[in-house]
Amino acid sequence: MKKISLYFSLFSLLSCSKQTFTACDQSSIYSHATFPVGVAVDVSELKTNSQYRSIVINQFNSITAENAFKFLHVQPDINRYDWEETDYLVDFAKQYNKRLHGHTLVWHSQLPSWIYGFTGNWKELLRDHITQEVGRYKQDIFSWDVVNEAFNEDGTLRSTIWLDHLGVDYIRLAFEFAHTANLEAKLFYNDYNLESNPAKLKGVIDFLTHLKASGIQIDGIGMQMHITNTFPSINQVAEASKTIADAGFLVHFSEMDVYMNTADGKTFLSKSELQEQANRYASVFTTYSQLNEKNQFGITIWGVSDADSWIPAGLPLLFDYSYEQKPAYCACKSLK
Ligand code: G3I
Repeated sequence: MKKISLYFSLFSLLSCSKQTFTACDQSSIYSHATFPVGVAVDVSELKTNSQYRSIVINQFNSITAENAFKFLHVQPDINRYDWEETDYLVDFAKQYNKRLHGHTLVWHSQLPSWIYGFTGNWKELLRDHITQEVGRYKQDIFSWDVVNEAFNEDGTLRSTIWLDHLGVDYIRLAFEFAHTANLEAKLFYNDYNLESNPAKLKGVIDFLTHLKASGIQIDGIGMQMHITNTFPSINQVAEASKTIADAGFLVHFSEMDVYMNTADGKTFLSKSELQEQANRYASVFTTYSQLNEKNQFGITIWGVSDADSWIPAGLPLLFDYSYEQKPAYCACKSLK
């Protein structure tokens, strides 16, 4: 994906003059909100790209690593943990006083290849991985996405390597191990399409409510919020997030971006498309701010600029390829 975004950047530089936007004031996005506003970061960009780094430092008060805390990166070999990038990020967060959200402990994707041939005890493997990772950062990481994307669209459990080896119990075990490793951490379940698919949302809430009732600590639900300019409706977003809050969970809009369907093959959005995107960000931020304050965990934007996005063709973020503010950036600061 990064390669694709590099091609886009080069194309953009070679073929187009720089787009200019009407800027708004430079104050941080989070200073305009009553909840934390975060961003997903890539450690090598943070180390090497000064524009990227200064946006992260100045605009957001919470960070999530886009990839660094995933299983593949943290435990690349069966008996070897690699803490280089995660340690860097923890130091960065401390230095700049950012809340750090850990993403993610248990997922079916971005697993190291050795795990597919693992023949030992799967429960101990899960326990060791979670205990090492959560325990190492006990003082530093405020919250974790403990389990990511475990449900199908119809609300049933997804068939994953974890389900295959540990059965339905793997979700309970993961939350238990995380809680034991850090009694203070806020623990989340995180998934996509929760804002648009009531069947999936119901499956997730029923399952987690049942676990909570049996004494397992689950604090919140991450609604990823990978949305487009046209889907889902803002009423769907409002209804789904209220359903989660009413069920007694913290709500995190955990990976927000707004993919512009009209942008196919373009490196620039038209003025009206930029405005349409800005309106989407504004209405999602406003909807979020209307949730009961005790359920608000924050909104995290999934990447800094369109050049860094996992879906660069959708030009989905708050800053453009040249790290200029887009109208969407100003929209996030105009909460009604
Ligand atoms: O680290 C390697 C690098 O060494 C190599 O040179 C390069 C070649 O393309 O690839 C790099 O790894 C890529 C990694 O991103 C870092 O850029 C992987 O191939 C690529 O698959 C990976 O994509 C990430 C994706 O999760 C993996 O599924 C995206 O950055 C990340 O934004 C995305 O995030 C997920 C959330 O974790 C869960 N929710 C959905 C969301 C979007 O897919």
